Amino acid sequence: MKALILVGGFGTRLRPLTLSVPKPLVDFANKPMILHQIEALKAVGVTEVVLAINYQPEVMLNFLKEFEEKLGIKITCSQETEPLGTAGPLALARDKLVDGSGEPFFVLNSDVISEYPFKEMIGFHKSHGGEASIMVTQVEEPSKYGVVVMEESTGRVERFVEKPKLFVGNKINAGIYLLNPSVLDLIELRPTSIEKEVFPKIAAQKNLYAMVLPGFWMDIGQPRDYITGLRLYLDSLRKQSSSKLASGPHIVGNVLVDESAKIGEGCLIGPDVAIGPGCVVESGVRLSRCTVMRGVRIKKHACISSSIIGWHSTVGQWARVENMTILGEDVHVCDEIYSNGGVVLPHKEIKSSILKPEIVM
Ligand code: GDD
Ligand code: MG
Repeated sequence: MKALILVGGFGTRLRPLTLSVPKPLVDFANKPMILHQIEALKAVGVTEVVLAINYQPEVMLNFLKEFEEKLGIKITCSQETEPLGTAGPLALARDKLVDGSGEPFFVLNSDVISEYPFKEMIGFHKSHGGEASIMVTQVEEPSKYGVVVMEESTGRVERFVEKPKLFVGNKINAGIYLLNPSVLDLIELRPTSIEKEVFPKIAAQKNLYAMVLPGFWMDIGQPRDYITGLRLYLDSLRKQSSSKLASGPHIVGNVLVDESAKIGEGCLIGPDVAIGPGCVVESGVRLSRCTVMRGVRIKKHACISSSIIGWHSTVGQWARVENMTILGEDVHVCDEIYSNGGVVLPHKEIKSSILKPEIVM
């Protein structure tokens, strides 16, 4: 089986992290977002992943080459010369996706995180006999998503409305699809949206089916949702393979610590924390609801909550970093500094406190 991941877009909502790497390579729970997806695809027998990309393809491919070998999966690029939206890239990659076998292929938005129940999805797709399957999930605020109205008993989609202004329903498109090759006949090679132009058409032909996604789901393309997504992901990890989580008297709730990270004496860590490879957390540090990426040093008695600390940054002694502070790559927060929601661009040194949420360039 094959899969295509939509990795275009500039990831502006996840700056300053996306100033250093394309969004799919931003770490989530100690590994690049896209690796969570590729590993799950590999686990259900996908042999080739096509990355539909519109900028920096070298960065992505160089990085993923290493994993191609490790995971034993083929990873190729389909590069657009102009952004083709969410459907155009499928037409562009047609020859890579279709091999005459008639097998369906997966399509994924690159910024969605879940337990990826691909196996259940394949079963569902076979059972209904339509042309396309999509995963849906229930949310409280549906207006920023694609909303699906479906016949409950069969899953047949009656309507698909992208980002509705008026309330249509609360089941939304989770950005995970399984499509028959025949769907490609409906897509022209031009900038076009699968949500606005393709799904409504297949739904009208009564060939679009939706399956309610079991387990958690989150679009982690924005800082607040990223932090919520980490909590949901760690909750799920607790249920599936709790031995991967840290334990001990200094740990509260769900905490993921890379084995190469060093944690000092008298720290209190958790809940909902991820500490990446090569990090050094000195003594007496307090961390909760935060991500600390590869190579970060947190000095003595610092306190970090609800924040993301980008690669190779340092946080000084007695510093207090909170309320959606996002430090880009290689940022240095001096001793005793306070950051309340600072969004700090890469390579900055922070010598005075940030008292209210603002961008520091
Ligand atoms: N190759 C390519 N080219 N990819 C693109 C382009 C493009 O021109 N434009 C967007 N993408 C990719 C993004 O990188 C992302 O992986 C995916 O397409 C969806 O784009 P987003 O910008 O993240 O869309 P959204 O979050 O507002 O809405 C989408 O996702 C929701 C779920 O998170 C829609 O699919 C909604 O219907 C859905 O509910
Ligand atoms: Mg998104």
